[in-house]
Parts: sequence; C-alpha cells; structure tokens
Amino acid sequence: MQIIAVCNQKGGVGKTTTTLSLAACAAAAGDAVLLVDLDPHASLTLSLGLETADARGGAYALLAQTLSLSELARPTAVAGMDIIASGPALATLERDQRRSPGMGRRLQTICRAQAGAYRWVFADTPPTLGVLMINALAAADHVVIPTQPDPLSRHGVTGMVKTLDMVNRSRPIPLGHSIVTTFYDRRTRSSLNGFEALSADHGGALWPDVIPVDTQFREASSRGLPLSRCRGASRGAAAYEQLWSHLLQRLPQPAASPAEVA
Ligand SMILES: Nc1ncnc2c1ncn2[C@@H]1O[C@H](COP(=O)(O)OP(=O)(O)OP(=O)(O)O)[C@@H](O)[C@H]1O
Ligand SMILES: [Mg+2]
Repeated sequence: MQIIAVCNQKGGVGKTTTTLSLAACAAAAGDAVLLVDLDPHASLTLSLGLETADARGGAYALLAQTLSLSELARPTAVAGMDIIASGPALATLERDQRRSPGMGRRLQTICRAQAGAYRWVFADTPPTLGVLMINALAAADHVVIPTQPDPLSRHGVTGMVKTLDMVNRSRPIPLGHSIVTTFYDRRTRSSLNGFEALSADHGGALWPDVIPVDTQFREASSRGLPLSRCRGASRGAAAYEQLWSHLLQRLPQPAASPAEVA
C-alpha cells in the first residue's frame, strides 16, 4: 500500500479534483484504490454522487473508533475504486477529540495494520492545518500540493512547505512532495509568470507541466464521475494522466512483503 495525501492550506486550488483524477488513473491501471475523504465538506464524496456519512460510518468512524478500512469503504461507480466517505460529523472530531492520545496518527496506524487491503490510498484534506490534515500527512508516503499560479495561492504553497518541514522533523525519512500547478490558463501572462515564480521558489519539487483550466471538471463532478470517465479525451484528464506517470517515477518504491522477500 502507498498513501498519497493531497494537501494545501489554501482553499479552492484543486485538491479534490486532483485526488479524484489521480485515483482514477491508478484504478484505470487495474490497481485496487481507496479514497479517504478527510474534508468535512465532503466535496470528494459528493462529486462521486454519493451520500455523505454520519458519525456511525465514514471517515469519522475511521478516526474516532479506528474501525477497519473494509468495514467502512463503499464502492464507487468507478471499478476498483472504493471510498471512505465524509460528512459534517468529521468537523466535530477537530473540536472534541484533537487531544485524544495518538489522534494525529490514527490513519497511519489503521493503514499499516491493513496494508494488503489496497494498492493505493488517496486522502483528500480540508484547507486547514488541523488534526485531519495531520492524519493525512502522518500516514502519507508522498504529498501532492496543488496550487493555482496566482500570488495568494503561491503564498499558500510556502505555508504548506513549512508545515512539511515541521512534519519532517519527526520522521526518519523525509516525506517527499510534488507541487502541481492547476487552473493554468495559457492565454494569460499571469499564469506564465506565476508558474515561473513557482519554479524559481520550489525548483525540482514543482511538476514541470501544468493542469489547464478545463470547464469540463465541473461538469464531470455534477455527473458524479472523474473527468476521465466522462470525457477521456479532454485536456484536463490527459494532463492528470501525465502527472500520474510523473508521480509513479518519484514515489518511493513500496517495501517488499515478507512473501516476496522469501
Ligand atoms: N483545472 C481546472 N479547471 C477548471 N475548473 C477546475 C479545475 N480544477 C478544479 N476545478 C473546479 O474548481 C472547483 C474547485 O476545485 P476543487 O474542489 O478541486 O478545489 P479544492 O482545493 O478541493 O477546494 P476546497 O479547498 O474548497 O476543498 C470545483 O468546482 C472544480 O470542479
Ligand atoms: Mg476540496
């Protein structure tokens, strides 16, 4: 199992779209994929046309009661892709349980105990640095940071990279990250300038390609599907395929299972 957390403390930068699009790429290759919706607004759950979860199920039950992945995962319309849904109850976790012992590492503990259940786990996170994002970062093998090219969004990336530095102080192996430029409009000078500024500030961590503005993302989520399953030929879906190929080369190799070693 490898876990990819999609995070940015800035809102509206394409986190949920990136989570779903990358997961769809992994599922298209025939791998077993689990989405974990850690945003109480449940955009990921809703964009797959699914009901939100209450406190007896979904991500709240996962983190509050440490139930197993298989008890909580539901199938989606995409073959090979399950989801642990979110809902408003998840917001109360931050308020009521953030000081519970080991709260920041619950997702990591559960995933380690059930590492054979899925090949990939993709965690979507809210745009706030709280116990939900901390769970995703603690569990992650790699972090994807989507950002729009504008100055305010770039400021958000700087904040996120500082958060990763903090997380890395308590990790034996640093957590790798990839910064992804989203909503890129090639007709505008400001998109190009923003991309160049990201490149100057973040160098090799910046994916050297971009996700273009594509209105079809919105249409796809209103149909409850990843864009690649509505219109595989769209520019947006093709860009995420490219990003997935790039990430596959950057991700740490998964540890061999004991059976493979023997
Ligand atoms: N490349 C794109 N081009 C055009 N629209 C996009 C693109 N990526 C995402 N969108 C649309 O923009 C909106 C915001 O995207 P998304 O929900 O993925 O952002 P987010 O970072 O998860 O937001 P939040 O911080 O609120 O969780 C959605 O309606 C989505 O369909
Ligand atoms: Mg979102």
